Amino acid sequence: MPATRPKRRREVLASQVQELAKAYDEMEKTGEPFGTLTIVEMGRKLESQGRDIIFCAESILSTQVPQVVLDETGRTFREASTGSEAPFLGLPELRQAIAGRFKRLYGREVDWNTEIIVTSGSMQSEYYLMSALLNPGDEVIVPTPTFFFDIPVKLARGKPVYLKLDPEKNYYHDSRRFRDLVTNKTKLITICNPHNPTGRVLTEEELSGIAKLAIDRDLYIMHDQVYERMVYGGRPYVPMAKFKEVQDRLISITSFSKLFNMMNYRLGYSIGPANIIHGMEMVQSFSSMGIPVLLQKGAIPALNKGFEDKHIADTIARLQKARDYAVRKLNSVEGMRVSSPEGTNLLFPEISSFGMSSMDFCKYLLDEAGVACAPGIAYHADGHFRISLGSDRIEEAIDRITTAVSKLPRRVSKKDNRTRLKATVSMAAR
Ligand SMILES: Cc1ncc(COP(=O)(O)O)c(C=O)c1O
Repeated sequence: MPATRPKRRREVLASQVQELAKAYDEMEKTGEPFGTLTIVEMGRKLESQGRDIIFCAESILSTQVPQVVLDETGRTFREASTGSEAPFLGLPELRQAIAGRFKRLYGREVDWNTEIIVTSGSMQSEYYLMSALLNPGDEVIVPTPTFFFDIPVKLARGKPVYLKLDPEKNYYHDSRRFRDLVTNKTKLITICNPHNPTGRVLTEEELSGIAKLAIDRDLYIMHDQVYERMVYGGRPYVPMAKFKEVQDRLISITSFSKLFNMMNYRLGYSIGPANIIHGMEMVQSFSSMGIPVLLQKGAIPALNKGFEDKHIADTIARLQKARDYAVRKLNSVEGMRVSSPEGTNLLFPEISSFGMSSMDFCKYLLDEAGVACAPGIAYHADGHFRISLGSDRIEEAIDRITTAVSKLPRRVSKKDNRTRLKATVSMAAR
């Protein structure tokens, strides 16, 4: 736990890393941006003491790596582990499979040899992109709530410029509001669609507004689409790649971690214009020198059309059942508001009427319900918390959350509420 971590001398570190290290030391108190990790660590500690904890904090769809992937990884183990190294951009067969899938799904022809880079998870793609693209002080527009896109911006000495999306407008991405933030230093806009943490699926209108802005103001767009295709009936999923006119300024980032439950393979990739992918290749060449060939080989069968379509249909059916159960139950609790997400495996209930910080709320849930959830503050959205629906015990987790939240005092003045809840939390912490 943070309290028992040794004190470190931070002054030697680069300023942007010092900032992160400081946040890490204070993570139990602030939760920004390490709140999810804090709650998971606290949950593991309780579990090691014999408590039964259900983990719904980290965003997982399932922990079951597809059998076809395990089989292929095993089958090629010897050959892949001992053969020659793959190019820094990634194994040609995997990049060809990625290009084939992109064409099949989105109708876009991609040159597998120059426009794709395989990385260690999509997070590494995001870090490489910022390192390859940004000069010190370059600005990146990051709509909030957000996954951790601002951190690689800072690590690359760029400047995140936050745009607070309005929950009352269902987090609508209004390109006019983006436009107001553009300066002569703006270089990139980040979008996440389907959206972590809110579960929004952006409309074609929102996307085309952002595409138009990027062209008008000569900006790049990073589209994190790690939840691509993870959309419940109704709204279709539109990738930014649909807009041909942004082809030379769009970097689409995808992951094997979510759709294919392959978190521990740490595999992701970027598709973008050759000059940007080459820049990212330069960063990869002198950092990781490439991704384990064994894992790249093993991942190829996941991209097979027949397998993928069935796998995704099964995943959506399972998560939709969990989503509908959770939304119905949670909305029956006075003081809690949750809208039904259009995509992803995530729920993002609003809890501000309980008058406590999202960190305190999640600590309370952990202690009272034995359920680990992610505090909104980690995603720049205090007043919310995030539930991942991937757990095998999700309905039990929702029942426990419902019971615990029903015990919270509410309908009192905000000030009184805060005082009473602080007392509840500090009692729980003892
Ligand atoms: C929106 C989003 N992007 C990127 C990632 C990083 O995923 P990975 O590095 O495992 O591909 C996550 C993980 O939760 C995510 O939710």
